[in-house]
Amino acid sequence: MIVTTKKLFEAAYGKYAIGAYNINNLEQTVGLFRGNLQSNAPFIIQLSKGARSYTNKLFLEGLIRSADEIYSEAIFAVHLDHGDEEACMDCIESGFYSSVMIDASHEEFEVNVGITRRIVDAAHARGIVVEAELGQLGGVEEHVQVSEADAKLTNPDQAKEFVDRTGCDSLAVAIGTSHGAFKFSGTQSLHFDVLAEIQKRLPGFPLVMHGSSSVPQEEVERINAAGGKLEGAKGVDARQFKEAAKLGVTKINIDTDGRLVWTRVHREMFKDHPEVFDLRAPGKLFMQEYANFIAEKNEYLGSAGELENVRQYLSA
Ligand code: G3H
Ligand code: 13P
Ligand code: ZN
Repeated sequence: MIVTTKKLFEAAYGKYAIGAYNINNLEQTVGLFRGNLQSNAPFIIQLSKGARSYTNKLFLEGLIRSADEIYSEAIFAVHLDHGDEEACMDCIESGFYSSVMIDASHEEFEVNVGITRRIVDAAHARGIVVEAELGQLGGVEEHVQVSEADAKLTNPDQAKEFVDRTGCDSLAVAIGTSHGAFKFSGTQSLHFDVLAEIQKRLPGFPLVMHGSSSVPQEEVERINAAGGKLEGAKGVDARQFKEAAKLGVTKINIDTDGRLVWTRVHREMFKDHPEVFDLRAPGKLFMQEYANFIAEKNEYLGSAGELENVRQYLSA
């Protein structure tokens, strides 16, 4: 069942965070649904602009519709990840998405407010909810690259003003994470002090943490042992998710870790079984491994086991 992120956030706020996972193809879709049902968790499917244009956005919509029918017990939102104005409008008009992210965080504050406000007006007119972003994460997104030094943590006072003026439904905040597999040069923890200040000014308001892959070292080592080259890859400690959830983080975005599972499965398969040329062999294994990965992640998020509570909340 497709629901809005707003409903999921109402059920989760202050208790746990909902996993927001990016998908690009059939195998990820199947693994994602299996893993969330395996762990009885509500979840968010995210489609990036890159994913939507990888083949054709209609393929992804078709996959999600089919999965909704096949895994009819699942409860999830369909969300545009890191949209610009054009992509947001396209998703709002399609009627398929329950939620869009407008990411104008690279713009000046006033410009970000103006763009976000326009998308909020268009989305709310159709019952679609909007995530916006303030502050800048380090790392690489589709069109923007920000170095660790240039990343700007979200200013708590500005966050309150931004939410009041734009009317957005949730806010992605920069609190020390970054996109991709190379998040920190040293060891770094999340800035819980900044997060607490944001929550103090926006009590009860859902916050979003991007760039939250953990980049498990065991996964990196296996990839490198099978011919990969990911020296120095590092991520966020998943044991910090529950503390972030208590401070208002209700959505945690994870993409890179899923890509690492894909890379490890395929590298090991072709290294250990050079005779394999049936694409279904790594495909089957990936779907199972991806499902296990999602189920484990949901334990860290605290969303595992919450599916029936969310169902009851929705029907109340
Ligand atoms: O934050 C970006 C997500 O990891 C999506 O990545 O734009 O390469 O699909 P992508
Ligand atoms: P990771 O690169 O840490 O997986 O972050 C994904 C993300 O923020 C998608 O919007
Ligand atoms: Zn992101």
